[in-house]
Amino acid sequence: MTPPADRATGQGSGKLILFGEHAVVWGARALATSLPDGALATVRHTPDAATRLTLLRDNQTLAQLAPDLQGGPLEQALATLIAHFECAEHGFDIRVDLNVPPGAGLGSSAALATAIARALATLYPSESNPRRIERAVEASEGIFHSSASGIDQAASLGQGLIHFEKGPPARCTALHDIPAFTIAICQAAPGASTATMVQGVTSRRAKAPERYRQLASMISDLVEDALEAMRTQDLTTLGELVNFNHGLLCAMGVSTHSLDHACHIAREAGSPGAKLTGAGGGGCVYALAHDPAHAQRLVHTWQEHGFQAFFTTIAG
Ligand code: PMV
Repeated sequence: MTPPADRATGQGSGKLILFGEHAVVWGARALATSLPDGALATVRHTPDAATRLTLLRDNQTLAQLAPDLQGGPLEQALATLIAHFECAEHGFDIRVDLNVPPGAGLGSSAALATAIARALATLYPSESNPRRIERAVEASEGIFHSSASGIDQAASLGQGLIHFEKGPPARCTALHDIPAFTIAICQAAPGASTATMVQGVTSRRAKAPERYRQLASMISDLVEDALEAMRTQDLTTLGELVNFNHGLLCAMGVSTHSLDHACHIAREAGSPGAKLTGAGGGGCVYALAHDPAHAQRLVHTWQEHGFQAFFTTIAG
């Protein structure tokens, strides 16, 4: 097949889970949002059949590798993505600029996969590309997170807020009626392996199934109450729900001293609510802000404590 273009770009969003991580794996409802500009991929054909990926963040090279089904997760993910586009006879020079911290629970792997898949889909136009992109990202995420609920790629492929249930069948609803609100995000510690964190919760859940059934039901209810609070712009109630979900994640054993500390710092700086986001064991915390100026103050306060932080506006 002769490709119509020599070079294409693709964008993938990062993601942030607002409510429901972990419980979403065993069927509870969850709320997540895409984070724009998670990853930007530029894919060029090379004269030879060799493919190389350069992964950068802030113009610093994080990794340089070639696709290999026997290699590490990144190599395998790259090989899988390319295989979905029936273009194995071509070689590619792929550059991915990552704008979210890798391995911190902000969906860097799904953003990277989405960005590359979209660029390959532009190089190889086909009617089946929307579904091919989804399948490629799903397969790539399966390599990074063995028991993934699918929420990462749903948020990364979507735009804005989503309501998600794993199913089967998975149900992902884009929420268009939520007024904008601002959150600050900080990386409290290096991220832990999602698979390890999910396995830890799975074994604790196996010992206390009824307690965990109640937790899942509570979290599903929190999600519906949070939606109502978002719709009515009731930040106080929303904050209480955010704090409550953090408490439930502590009960599941996935918070750490750093994550709790970052939450306390934000609450003491006036945030109505703060919680860990993603698999826990490290990684990130988000905090509700009253407005962008308050979010900027939360970012400064975290930075004074040595954390990297930024803020963003969430909207349906
Ligand atoms: O990989 P992370 O940190 O974004 O966590 C994913 C969220 C979990 O609920 C823990 C796992 C999943 O697949 O939903």
